[in-house]
Amino acid sequence: MQGTRDMTLLRTLGIETSCDETAVAVLDGEGRIEAEAMSSQVAAHARYGGVVPELASREHLRALPWLTNQALTAAARPPELVAVTAGPGLVGALLVGVRYAAAFAWGRSLPMVAVDHLEAHLASPFLDAGGGPAAPMPERVLALVASGGHSSWYLIDEGGSHRLCRTRDDAAGESFDKVAQALGLPYPGGPVVDRIARDGDPRAVPLPRPRLHDSRLDFSFSGLKSAAVRWIREHQLSAAGAADPGRPVRDLLASFQRAVVDQLLAPLPDLVAEHRPELVTASGGVAANSELRRRLAERADALGIALRLPPPRLTTDNAAMVARAGQLALARGFWSDPRRVDARPREAWQPPGMRGLSPSGGGV
Ligand code: KG4
Ligand code: ZN
Repeated sequence: MQGTRDMTLLRTLGIETSCDETAVAVLDGEGRIEAEAMSSQVAAHARYGGVVPELASREHLRALPWLTNQALTAAARPPELVAVTAGPGLVGALLVGVRYAAAFAWGRSLPMVAVDHLEAHLASPFLDAGGGPAAPMPERVLALVASGGHSSWYLIDEGGSHRLCRTRDDAAGESFDKVAQALGLPYPGGPVVDRIARDGDPRAVPLPRPRLHDSRLDFSFSGLKSAAVRWIREHQLSAAGAADPGRPVRDLLASFQRAVVDQLLAPLPDLVAEHRPELVTASGGVAANSELRRRLAERADALGIALRLPPPRLTTDNAAMVARAGQLALARGFWSDPRRVDARPREAWQPPGMRGLSPSGGGV
């Protein structure tokens, strides 16, 4: 993501289908969001309490053509590059997006980039939801990605992005979803918990913040999540269908949210001392969380480091961040052959150069 300061890049069509959002966006060469079209599958999956992979693939297949048409009609000019999420994610869902993007690029003789979903989240804090150009990235950025599938801190420098520490078990968003589910609240749980927790007392329920014996920096959510679920069962709490879930639920959720944020922020002072970043960022669905945003702002201020958070609507999965990650990757000589590109459901992305491949052989 370095070396792109003040550079005009290719106008990019971004496509995101890694989980339960079908999203398409067009960015101009300076990273301005020109058009966005999105279809959420939340309603389709809600009755199952989580994302059903086969259903997700079918919904992506149904939505992609009309969303793409909508975005292309709204954009000022046709794209010059196609960027698509290739992984990690649900294999069937990824395949729909990757094949669609490859056909689109091949049919129009456009270059294509297969993007790692986490790289896309890492790019999101630099986008402007108000229609302005994307902000340049400083040389050393400490970046948290906290979503439904991942919770890790990264260092982004001239060599690309390097994971510094991570959760050893559940992702932060997953723990929000599970605790919400135990209370009978709808999926995804994060936004609902955030709303209810605002009126609760975060000191009311004692919940653990387990540290790992073998790592100073890695963190964990499963003990915390289990303790919250145990509390819900022992106190027979439920919020299903309630307009006002009541004080015991509000207090439990406020206490749980505080503990999740404590876990996520625990490594920050050590990471800042060790890596001396110019900027701290957070991205992924959990970066929409009001307590996390407030506490990160306080911490960054106390540590004397600038903080950049994505606009809340760009924290969750979206195609603008995929387009931005794709145009930055191409500027560094990283591209994919539409005839051979494939979904990478689990494999971690490696920046070009890290694999010793030349730009012309850098295709995924
Ligand atoms: O980044 P994202 O859209 O998808 C993944 O890549 O996983 O993140 C979705 C996750 C869900 O677990 C959802 O509950 C959580 O982000 N989330 C939140 C909030 N908004 C979304 N968690 C806490 N507070 C929120 N306001
Ligand atoms: Zn995501």
